[in-house]
Formats: sequence, C-alpha cells, structure tokens
Amino acid sequence: MNFATRAIHVGQEPDAMTGAVNVPVFLTSTYAQESVGVVKFADYARGDNPTRAALEQVLASLEEANHAIAFSSGLSAVDAILRTLSPGDRVLMSTDAYGGTYRMLTKVFGAWGLHTDIVDLSDISSARSSWRDGTKLVWVETPSNPFLRIVDIAAMAELAHDHGAKLVVDNTFATPYLQTPLTLGADVVIHSTTKYLGGHSDVIGGAVVTNDVDIAERVKFLQYAVGAIPGPLDCYLVMRGVRTLGVRMDRHQENAQRIVTMLDDRDDVARVWYPGLASHPNHEIAKSQMRGYGAMVSVELVGGAARARDFVERTRVFTLAESLGGVESLIEVPAAMTHLSTSGSLLEVPDNLVRLSVGIEDVDDLLADLVQALS
Ligand SMILES: Cc1ncc(COP(=O)(O)O)c(C=O)c1O
Repeated sequence: MNFATRAIHVGQEPDAMTGAVNVPVFLTSTYAQESVGVVKFADYARGDNPTRAALEQVLASLEEANHAIAFSSGLSAVDAILRTLSPGDRVLMSTDAYGGTYRMLTKVFGAWGLHTDIVDLSDISSARSSWRDGTKLVWVETPSNPFLRIVDIAAMAELAHDHGAKLVVDNTFATPYLQTPLTLGADVVIHSTTKYLGGHSDVIGGAVVTNDVDIAERVKFLQYAVGAIPGPLDCYLVMRGVRTLGVRMDRHQENAQRIVTMLDDRDDVARVWYPGLASHPNHEIAKSQMRGYGAMVSVELVGGAARARDFVERTRVFTLAESLGGVESLIEVPAAMTHLSTSGSLLEVPDNLVRLSVGIEDVDDLLADLVQALS
C-alpha cells in the first residue's frame, strides 16, 4: 500500500468487538488475568496498551521499519536511545541541532560519562577527518534545527558503519512523508511526534523507529523499565494527526515555497535558510534524498537582534511561540527561545535569526502578515 493509505489503515482496522472505525482509546492501567500469568494482551499498561500498539504499527509502517516504540515526548525517545550507550562512549553530533538534545547530551549524559563531539556533519569530509576512536553513535538532524542544513544520510551511514558506529536521524522536520532515513542506511529514526506527525499542537510525544532488532529490544525494554510511556489519549491524538500527514505536508510546503520567494526578494532580509532554495549550501543533497523541502524556514534579518524581536512581536496570524509542525503558523527567535540552552556553545545561533513554522492557513493571509510585520 502507498503512503496515504498506510497512514490511514495500518494498525487501524475497525475494532473487532464493536466495528468502531477509530481505534478505541484504551483507558486502562491493568488487564484481568484468566489465570495467574495468563493474559489476553498484556499484564500491565506500562508494558503495552492497544492504542499505543496501533500508533507504533503505523509509525513503523510509514518509516518502512519493523519496529516503532512510542514515548511520552521527543526527548524521552532521545533519552532511550542514549541509554543504549555505555559511560565512556562518544557521540558525534552536528553543529546545528535542537537545543534540548544538546542539553541532554551535555548536561545529563555528560555527567553519566558520555562524551559529545560537535562537527559540521553537512560536510562529510570534515566528519571523516575529525572522527575519534570510541564514537559509537552519530546524531544527525536533517533538515536541522534551526538552519535547515542537510546531511547526506547515505554517506554518513557509510562513515558510521565503517567505524562500527550507528547512525541516528532525527526525522522530525522532514517526516516520513518527505524522507525515510532507514531506507538510506540510517540505523534509527527518532521523532518528536509533537510536531508534524501530531500536527495540531495539542499533544507531546515521541518515537524511536528501527529495523535493528537488538536496538528495538533494548529500547522496548527501556520503555517498560524506565516508564516514559505516552498515555492512550496522546497516542490517539498522534494517530489522528498521522492520518492527514500527507495532505497537510503538501499544503505546508506550497505555502512555505511562496513565503520563501517573497522573503528572498526583500532587502531587509539578509539571508533565507530553506533547503529548496538553489542558494542553500546543501540544496543538491536535499533534492536527491528528500521528496520535498518541508515547511520550516529561517531568516537572518538586517538590523540585528532588535529587528528580529520587533518582527516576531508584530505578526498577527503567525503566533509567537516555540514548537513547530502544527496547522497554525508559528514564529520565534531561536537564540532567545528554543536554542537558549546552546548559548556560548558551538551550537549557538545568531540573534538576528528568526524561525518560521509555516502552517496551512490561506497563504495570502500569511504573506500579508509577514509583510506588515516587516514593514
Ligand atoms: C528536531 C527536534 N527533535 C526533538 C525535539 C524534542 O521533542 P519534544 O519537545 O517532543 O520532547 C524537538 C522539540 O522541539 C525538536 O525540534
């Protein structure tokens, strides 16, 4: 079955008992046992829940994987993957990534004994020449947050595998509609399902997706043993979002393209970061490994931090808020908001940078809003 059909049907057959066309929200913490240790589905809902299982099935299918393990947030999915490492191991990460992932690596797992090396992974030759012994995991966001840099997934997977390391791709920005990293050689995909997969800014969630049986078993164990599970209603909400992912992404991208063209033409915009622009340094790789360029756009404004703040505070349709990927357009200043925790590090972002999550409103209203806020 093709993507749109899988998004609506995998794991989501009508309920066997009632015929309900939607997966029921199984609000239960435990299950009756037929006799001691004999259960119909599971013994306790931290271990398994049918609504969660349905979500995991559809996520695995969309990423063309055998295993998906759902978590209560994107960061708890990140946490589970990092816990599969051992103290003393090294993680190689790019110069551009979500601040919360960087914070967890340095502030939480740093104390636990993980070492984090930061290199611009959109430049494979610098990744190769700076490779350090003991690196067990390469952490890639592509497109990255907030510069929309693109890492060549196939080349990065080859480099990691040559050194016996695993490649993790955070596929939150692209979603499986636009990019399937496992088919390009990545070992693990992680998602903040809070974003495009949920799609309506009403739920926090995450997932680890993989074809690697060993990683899947270890992460499934951590889901149970550590317990950062999503509730059944949260799973239902993410699944409902997933059903319309394709149509939403098409509109998100159409709108983003029009906005990029308008912003790129303005003299008060110093630079537009969007992988669909021929001027983007990684445009060719984006073209070859993605099925579209997504709807995240970053701009550097002439006039510095004050101008950036002024812009984001003047929009009326774009809401000034953290997060991304919902039907509504959002705008933010990463240096002061989502990426504050990278201040003073190699991941620090310039304070004249503004990040837009282009929603699916009428594009003429979005264009007019940005023009009035810039003027
Ligand atoms: C690319 C990326 N990965 C992971 C996360 C963390 O996800 P969550 O907020 O669901 O914990 C975020 C959050 O903004 C993100 O942008």
